[in-house]
Amino acid sequence: MKKKVLLMGASGSGKTSMRSLIFSNNPASLTARLGATVDVEQNHVRFLGDLILNLWDCGGQDSFMDSYLSTQQSTIFSHVGVLIYVFEVESRNMTKDLEYYKDCVRALRKYSPEAAVFLLVHKMDLVRGNKVQVLEKKSKELRVASEDTPITVFGTSIYDESLYKAWSRIVHTLIPNAAVLSKHLTTLAAACSATEVVLFERTTFLVIATSTPSTPSTSSIPFSQSHTPSESLQSTQSTQSIPQSSTPTTSSQSTGISYTSDLYNGQDGVYDSGPHKMDPTRYERTSELIKAFKLSCARVREDFHALEMELPEFTAVLDELTKNTYVLIVVHDPSIETAALKLNVRLARRKFE
Ligand code: GTP
Repeated sequence: MKKKVLLMGASGSGKTSMRSLIFSNNPASLTARLGATVDVEQNHVRFLGDLILNLWDCGGQDSFMDSYLSTQQSTIFSHVGVLIYVFEVESRNMTKDLEYYKDCVRALRKYSPEAAVFLLVHKMDLVRGNKVQVLEKKSKELRVASEDTPITVFGTSIYDESLYKAWSRIVHTLIPNAAVLSKHLTTLAAACSATEVVLFERTTFLVIATSTPSTPSTSSIPFSQSHTPSESLQSTQSTQSIPQSSTPTTSSQSTGISYTSDLYNGQDGVYDSGPHKMDPTRYERTSELIKAFKLSCARVREDFHALEMELPEFTAVLDELTKNTYVLIVVHDPSIETAALKLNVRLARRKFE
């Protein structure tokens, strides 16, 4: 199943930068070297098993935009699943940006009336004042320009987790069986007495689905009884193990990457309600951190396969689930062993393949 994703917006708004961060695993620091996109750059990204994202990165210079809206209109705007339109938060020519945007939405309505529209107010890191107010003001302006077209607006930056949040939500709308995945994850969470189970796509580390909150049982039981317990004790050689630490932040010595424990056990700021005060940005922050961790592993010529964390507050296991996915299991019960969690991941694999 192929889903066409149009990535549009003015030249220099940051389209290719976000594509290179999310789909090519490049660091943000390298995006300054990217040249302007000439016409359309097409990429196929196998996302989940059968789901292929057909990403059209449309160069934003005026001459290209004019051509998309005239001679190339039916080619560009037909069979679109999602339009992602990027606006620079501090654009020097918002009036022109909005004119092009309105023309694109008109063409989209004509050729792909069912397509979803996501607007990214990008480079939010450059805002010096109150970011929330600035984003609200921009969103209002964009809603007016969109007229009757339903839109979803995100504030994003390549320098923080906001980009992962936006793209995870966008990709989630394209996954046909998201509800079934969430149900299986909830079953896995119950089997592990986990607080939460999160499914990530392997290359992009975007969040595909999460378990729904439930009351954990008191002990960790295998997901299915069909394997012998001894198998659970076989350890993966390539697992990156982060040892127990008494400080709130742990770091892997070989890579220098820090993983803060407040993601799943908050001390300050705003946290989800519930007994464990979990940070509401934990999914996208995990995506961002793991991508950085994978880059560091590559730098020291280590393959990244799995990760275990045993902190005083919680235990987390991140392991390969299928060819295209990783699963993160977070447990707040100190009596549950990581080996049991890994056994359950292995037993659950069949359900997700
Ligand atoms: P065209 O290919 O001409 O359509 O441009 P584009 O939209 O693909 O822009 P590109 O990704 O090439 O980015 C332009 C510049 O914006 C680069 O120098 C990036 O480093 C910078 N940039 C991208 N995202 C961000 C961001 O979130 N914050 C800041 N401060 N700069 C960004």
